[in-house]
Amino acid sequence: MSSASEKSKLFELRCFACKTQYPIDDYGKFYRCSNCGNLLEIVRLGVPERKDELANLPGIWRYFDRIPLWRRENIVSLSEGGTALVECRNLGRELGFKSLFVKFEGLNPTGSFKDRGMTVGISKAKELGYKIAMCASTGNTSASLAAYAARAGIRCIVLVPKGKIAMGKMAQAIAYGAEIYQVDGNFDDSLRVASEICERNNSTLLLNSLNPFRIEGQKTVTFEIVEQLGGTLPDAIILPVGNGGNITAVWKGVSELTETRNDLSGKIPPRLIGVQAEGAAPIARAFKSGRRDRIQPVLEPYTEASAINIGSPVSWMKAFSAIYDSKGAADYVSDQEIFEAQRRLASTEGLFVEPASATSIAFLMKCKANRSEEYERLKDKKIVCICTGNGLKDPNALLKSVQPEQIQTVSADATSLEKILA
Ligand code: F0G
Repeated sequence: MSSASEKSKLFELRCFACKTQYPIDDYGKFYRCSNCGNLLEIVRLGVPERKDELANLPGIWRYFDRIPLWRRENIVSLSEGGTALVECRNLGRELGFKSLFVKFEGLNPTGSFKDRGMTVGISKAKELGYKIAMCASTGNTSASLAAYAARAGIRCIVLVPKGKIAMGKMAQAIAYGAEIYQVDGNFDDSLRVASEICERNNSTLLLNSLNPFRIEGQKTVTFEIVEQLGGTLPDAIILPVGNGGNITAVWKGVSELTETRNDLSGKIPPRLIGVQAEGAAPIARAFKSGRRDRIQPVLEPYTEASAINIGSPVSWMKAFSAIYDSKGAADYVSDQEIFEAQRRLASTEGLFVEPASATSIAFLMKCKANRSEEYERLKDKKIVCICTGNGLKDPNALLKSVQPEQIQTVSADATSLEKILA
């Protein structure tokens, strides 16, 4: 038996809700469970043998043994992952949190965490023989898919909500050569259209985060955090939530580690805290009202943090599992709190993250301002905020509050500037 076919036996594709099984390599011929209509997930059945030579593979592929790709020659990588975990002593001191870290996912090749998932999604598309890939996006997914598809020689079609994505992300998708369509509607409309097209057309693979291969790549962020913390689990991981894919992935990473590593088994897993923007917060609102079984979609979501301007999160059920199983929480913050947090993180720690990514810091600032119960729970704990995207993607959002032309102009003369500076 080849090692590829041996490896394929270690993973299973099944319905997240009713657990009906499906042949893993048929993924893309269907996206949901034919039995109950829910999303699918990939489950690892065994612990594959870890081989030392994997350390030489690019990017997140040093975890090749934990990722459901059968052949190494199908890897399409831009050396994603390996992002910095920065201890934020200045901000931690100011806000009263003893041990605060930022995992800066803006350092990925296209500037967001999506690259971890997209390298797996596109490598699998190549392995399954797809020639066309498609997504709907608030911007980062489209930039990432476009880059990886370009590298793989796969045709890339992206749908974005018209006028609602940051220009940096649009520029990336254009540069990487994607075919871009602006949908007259919001992100939820765009995803509905993309899903319908891919469901009807078996030669086009949908690469939104409902695609479980993406989750398999994104779970590696947890592996890295634990390594960077010297093999220990943090007490809490705080991250923005849009569709709910990333919080699902982070929790999958935690579960796999605690199930397979003897030194971590039995340890208390980190609490996952998902943060949404106030105008697009169906998961946080459901959590706060004690619901677990459904969300009330927001029909006209609005936040300036355009990346998470999502009213009907497709992975809400998985996100709830991550939040409840980890004994975590969900909350929302206002746009004003988001922009304050974005500036505060940049000006105290030198980390410029995009607005959506600042929600985790905004949440901590809100906890501190309200001296909330959560503040008491977290202040002495080891906290990791996942800052999902780079601030350079969306300079306009920041510059709205400060026009560059308002910055004082001075004559080209050192003496007169010295007088001003004195
Ligand atoms: N942070 C950023 C910067 C994002 O771009 C997204 C999602 C999220 C957080 C939320 O992640 O959806 O997995 O809960 N962006 C998607 C996109 C929707 O199209 O780029 P999630």
